[in-house]
Amino acid sequence: MPTREGILARCGIMPSVATELEIVLRSAVDDAEAMAADGSTGLTVLDAGCGRSSALQSFKPQIARFVGIDIHEPAPGSVPYLDEFAVVDVCADAGAFPPATFDVVLSSFTVEHFARPAAAFANMARWLRPGGSLVITTVNRRHPFVAAYLGFPSGLRHRLQRAVKATAADAHPIVGICNDPKALHSALEAAGFVDVKVEPIGHLARAWGRTWPTFFVGLIGDLLSRGTPSRRSTLLVRGRVPIADRRQA
Ligand SMILES: C[S@@+](CC[C@H](N)C(=O)[O-])C[C@H]1O[C@@H](n2cnc3c(N)ncnc32)[C@H](O)[C@@H]1O
Repeated sequence: MPTREGILARCGIMPSVATELEIVLRSAVDDAEAMAADGSTGLTVLDAGCGRSSALQSFKPQIARFVGIDIHEPAPGSVPYLDEFAVVDVCADAGAFPPATFDVVLSSFTVEHFARPAAAFANMARWLRPGGSLVITTVNRRHPFVAAYLGFPSGLRHRLQRAVKATAADAHPIVGICNDPKALHSALEAAGFVDVKVEPIGHLARAWGRTWPTFFVGLIGDLLSRGTPSRRSTLLVRGRVPIADRRQA
């Protein structure tokens, strides 16, 4: 019996978002360490919309303070890698942290849920130190399946989400206000980020791989957009706060 990853490899749906995210986070963490010329040991990082898993976990040895925020409190003991957790709405709670608190902020599969993405990006830019990096993964509404999904009535969207997600608890309402490569690029620049890079990656089969039927629907979606990168389902994004950003001085 072939594995899902084996089928994806044979169909050329590579690399995975997880692999690429790890590479981008590695670069953000390395850059932050290189900038820490004050002899400080370890980085201060934030997972904004942390849920119950964080790709920053792999970098724990380089992290001195690992903060998670979310609008939902995690179950006790479910996020043991965090040093701190706070209930914070990224779109609303600008005062949750002092300016220039973090070296790296990750916000993974969250932007599609944000009611006020511009405010969220401005908050994360404010919370980052000069030179610090924001790394985002989110869905791309230029993919026809994502666009169709976002066009459904909200009740139907929620039922579909529960069918394809690993657990019902992972099915958060999706609004998709700032979810295409151009909109995201512009919104991040408007929030003050520089060196913004948006990389689209095919991710539907992996995201919907809970059952074989939903995996194959996702695979068709990934194959449809394989030759048109700007239409691939998922966006991996990095932006930096400029080093000479005087807002944080
Ligand atoms: C699809 S889950 C992703 C969780 C985790 N980042 C991951 O990659 O597995 C989206 C998370 O974003 C959180 N979220 C949605 N809107 C938010 C907001 N405005 N502020 C903070 N967290 C938010 C949800 O509660 C949920 O935990």
